[in-house]
Amino acid sequence: MSKFFALIPAAGSGSRMGNELPKQYLSLNNRPMIYHAIHTLCQNQFIAGVFIVLAPSDTEWFKYDWSEFSEKLVVLSCGGLTRADSVLNGLTAAKQKNLVDTNDWILVHDAARPCLTSILLDKLINELAIDKVGGLLAVPVADTLKRSNTENRVAHTESRENLWQAQTPQMFRHDLLTQALRSTTNINVTDDASAVEALGFYPKLVLGDAYNFKVTYPQDLALAELIIQKRNNP
Ligand code: C5P
Repeated sequence: MSKFFALIPAAGSGSRMGNELPKQYLSLNNRPMIYHAIHTLCQNQFIAGVFIVLAPSDTEWFKYDWSEFSEKLVVLSCGGLTRADSVLNGLTAAKQKNLVDTNDWILVHDAARPCLTSILLDKLINELAIDKVGGLLAVPVADTLKRSNTENRVAHTESRENLWQAQTPQMFRHDLLTQALRSTTNINVTDDASAVEALGFYPKLVLGDAYNFKVTYPQDLALAELIIQKRNNP
């Protein structure tokens, strides 16, 4: 039987937040942001283990107490120059340590999506567990999309038909994802699915929700905090 593992690439600097501290450690509800995704993943009944991929130079991680997750959490200090490098290095390290089988499912999740729920996680796993390729959470694009010219004027309006915003987790088998990321090391892939697509596969889109947004700019942090506070005190 294939198992399900989560992998969080957390070796980025988060420079768009304009902060010295990498974004995964910014305080969210009195915890480092990454805590919230780890909590949801470790609590999930299907998830056998959670791999955290850190930058080799990261000292911030060790300032916090992670012992409540010790049954499932594995730290791999092998992050790379890009997100894709960090995921690939994490997959390789987990295999070398015999923690995963090539047939196991890996759910790659961004540390910067703290509002993931167990309900969405269950939905993703249930919809993809017998899929031949795998897939990802995503939401249909809601806004009208404008293509700009070099003067920031509207060159034309894009059709939003069949357009989705990719989220995470993105769920693929260890062997397929490893092969996909290895073969795209020279291309700038911004998510795991695009590496799999480059091999000619068609990952499945599983309907997520807008709460599972990525904290990218400072105002996103305040919104995530409100959502988590509301969940903790309904
Ligand atoms: O910067 P961005 O929001 O695209 O990062 C997405 C995720 O990839 C974050 O969790 C970040 O820590 C991670 N990342 C990484 N290694 C890098 C760059 C980003 O693990 N070299």
